[in-house]
Amino acid sequence: MDYETPQFFRVMQYARRAERDVVDMVSGNPDWEPPQALREGLTSYAQADSSEFQYPPSIGLTDLRDEIASRRGVKRNQVIVTNGAGEANHLAMSAGFEQFPGSEIVLVDPVYPYYVGRAQLLGADVSFVPAADDGHVAPDHVAEVISDETAVIVVNTPNNPLGVTYPASTMEALVGLAESHDAVLVSDEVYDHFDYGGNFSSALHVDSPNRIVTNSFSKSMAITGWRVGYAVFPERDGPTAALFERARTQHMLTNVTGSRPVQQAVYHALQETEPTYYQDTRDRLTRRIKMFTTALDAAGAAYTKPEGGFYVLARFPGFPGTMENVETLIDDAGVAGMPGEAFGESRADWLRFALVTPRVETAAERLAAYFG
Ligand SMILES: Cc1ncc(COP(=O)(O)O)c(C=O)c1O
Repeated sequence: MDYETPQFFRVMQYARRAERDVVDMVSGNPDWEPPQALREGLTSYAQADSSEFQYPPSIGLTDLRDEIASRRGVKRNQVIVTNGAGEANHLAMSAGFEQFPGSEIVLVDPVYPYYVGRAQLLGADVSFVPAADDGHVAPDHVAEVISDETAVIVVNTPNNPLGVTYPASTMEALVGLAESHDAVLVSDEVYDHFDYGGNFSSALHVDSPNRIVTNSFSKSMAITGWRVGYAVFPERDGPTAALFERARTQHMLTNVTGSRPVQQAVYHALQETEPTYYQDTRDRLTRRIKMFTTALDAAGAAYTKPEGGFYVLARFPGFPGTMENVETLIDDAGVAGMPGEAFGESRADWLRFALVTPRVETAAERLAAYFG
């Protein structure tokens, strides 16, 4: 698998060129409104004094870092505001890879493909831990794969594409493995607001110098185009304080700083937005999951029912998750998903559908009719 060219673009392009109407279930772009306060924050920013249009502090607006820190129960000096979780993951993986001995990065298969491309960019050897049949990652399996060569372990909870949320015991065990192998656990928690069963447990609950947590507002506030995320590093007076310093330098030399208007608006929205905004989003997705999986039953498919996130993996009899089959489904059923093979080997028989479209019902009907 070529992880340097995201397959995502290929599928989107194919769907766009199709000669029929296609429901796009490829991308992870939320289709609902951002919090109202976010629009207000950006609008009022346009009228601010021009002195506020100048560089913000490189590691992010102090108010925003304070707000993130108090919500996550950490100190402000552990937080760097980034250009989305994408940059946060890059800073975390790169800082960990430099800091810890060993040339290997360990990932879970199926994998969010950008982790692999990034690990390759860093010159790391990549090893995979296959997810168990129920989609969870067994710490025992991780223990079998990691070695003295492991510098970084990356996990994602709630998980894209599997839809599982790892329990607290898994997070504790993973951080423990990072500690005992002189490595760092990077926990990408970008879907933390999409936790349907209340089982999500952040790696931040495990106090350790060997874990970094990444996150963003891309999904939780429906602003993938705004690029506001963050990374939380270990305590600055501990043995791994250099992780923060490495990340800060890399962030500054790459970006100088992040964009100020969007940080200001996110800060405003964090203060003004009621928990009902996030609950409404979860309720909407819960309805879509029900509708979609009911149709998958009718189509005779096996599927994952997300505990978190907004992706469903489905396996149709005799129809493995290849790029060719994805194209067939676009042409013959009018539904675009992602091939399971784009996420590694362990779910190559499956197709991934993102439920971030108001047309889930249409897609469900089309799939049921095509396979039923
Ligand atoms: C697991 C995971 N991490 C990170 C990202 C990227 O997030 P951001 O838009 O904040 O860079 C995505 C986007 O789909 C994702 O699925």
